[in-house]
Amino acid sequence: MIICHCSQISDHDIRAAVDWMRAADPEAIITPGKVYHTLGKRPDCGSCMPLFLDTMRHCDNLAVPPILRGLRATRKGAIHEGRRQGHRVSQRSATV
Ligand code: FES
Repeated sequence: MIICHCSQISDHDIRAAVDWMRAADPEAIITPGKVYHTLGKRPDCGSCMPLFLDTMRHCDNLAVPPILRGLRATRKGAIHEGRRQGHRVSQRSATV
């Protein structure tokens, strides 16, 4: 079935591109832009994106690599976001 009419990309092309990218780099984050690039094509109108993404989501090899999972949980353990404590004038006078 044709997914992108502008670039003539079928659901088979998308699955093949995702499988190829996963085989080439097991830790790659696969995005629609990378799929277009792999197929040597460019999106034009963008109206196919919902169906394009839905087709990608049904690929078995699309999952986020295990090494990149849980990064958000690691950041939650941080004490602060890196800003200085009491960076506002009103907070400086309250801490002194
Ligand atoms: S239908 Fe895919 S870019 Fe237009």
